[in-house]
Amino acid sequence: MTKQAIITFENVTKSYGDTQVLKNVNVEIEKGKFYTLLGPSGCGKTTILRLIAGFTELTSGTITLNGQEVQELPPNKRKVNTVFQDYALFPHMNVFENIAFGLRLKKLPKDVIQEKVSEALKMVRLSGYENREIAQMSGGQQQRVAIARALVNEPEVLLLDEPLSALDLKLRTEMQYELRELQQRLGITFIFVTHDQEEALAMSDEIFVLNQGEIVQSGTPVDIYDEPINRYVADFIGESNIIPGIMKEDYLVEFVGKEFECSDAGMRPNEKIEIVIRPEDLTIKPVNLGKLNVEVDTQLFRGVHYEIICYDEVGNEWMIHSTKKAEIGSKVSLDFEADDIHVMRFGESEEEFDARLESYEDEVEVDE
Ligand SMILES: Nc1ncnc2c1ncn2[C@@H]1O[C@H](COP(=O)(O)OP(=O)(O)O)[C@@H](O)[C@H]1O
Ligand SMILES: [Mg+2]
Repeated sequence: MTKQAIITFENVTKSYGDTQVLKNVNVEIEKGKFYTLLGPSGCGKTTILRLIAGFTELTSGTITLNGQEVQELPPNKRKVNTVFQDYALFPHMNVFENIAFGLRLKKLPKDVIQEKVSEALKMVRLSGYENREIAQMSGGQQQRVAIARALVNEPEVLLLDEPLSALDLKLRTEMQYELRELQQRLGITFIFVTHDQEEALAMSDEIFVLNQGEIVQSGTPVDIYDEPINRYVADFIGESNIIPGIMKEDYLVEFVGKEFECSDAGMRPNEKIEIVIRPEDLTIKPVNLGKLNVEVDTQLFRGVHYEIICYDEVGNEWMIHSTKKAEIGSKVSLDFEADDIHVMRFGESEEEFDARLESYEDEVEVDE
């Protein structure tokens, strides 16, 4: 455990009856960072938050908060607060009373409550809204009240369970900026849950990608986007071209019957793999002048770029993002660099994947 770790999960499992919903989860959360749990519905995101908050108990493994095992800490002794997906505000109370609720239970003096509530409202930019009824507030304002209600308890960790999913797109984007800015201003640890990969990429210091109760990959948004560990992550994080291939030898991969230099190594000779190339890493050149000839099938204008779909001679579909139009039905050639090809092994664990990446980073250093 590093010195800064505020939360750790070691081999944590959680079962309901015979159903295992978390399998061997290992996590280390540092102070003051923005973390995101990303995965489709039902993969165990809320369960992880509930374990941290103390709303449910683990089946096996160890969870620590500030070095102390959670079993010794009742929920109200954990410096953790949750913002729920549906906000869970009290509709019959005004904004002030909603935020003051927990403080009143703690029997704090009136003037202290007053001060703390105003402070919390200031943080979420709702000063002056104390006497508003909840029903008179917009979705985004209700969201901010819910955040203020959690912040008023001065948590070390704020858990946010899909807090933006009920908002329309424009408000959602605004709140993404606000939340990120709030986290940086306050310097407390946020653990944010979403099933939206763009949201995760935009907001996080570190992302945990989950699939069926397991963390399949963790890392910075750039790490995960650039080096997805497998098809699941590559598919989940943004658009990608995933093409079957063969690793001929280190730094040489074959796909569509041709050999290409790449920057990956450490597989068995002739191992079957899949390669990923992101649509924005492909450029279109005149036929025969790039690396791979394809035929243009369709294109859509997406505002900042054209999304062009092509097929190669063996029938693989390729998506290209380009600021230039292509001619439908024409033959063109795709160009890319060795670095744009990301090789994924079948069934590689995150540890094996990290070790492999590190091993050829070392090799590159030796070469230089
Ligand atoms: N109290 C419960 N009893 C039985 N199964 C549950 C319970 N809570 C959650 N589950 C199951 O655990 C799995 C993970 O749920 P959850 O953590 O809520 O997923 P997510 O938040 O990623 O959508 C789901 O299959 C869900 O049906
Ligand atoms: Mg959930």
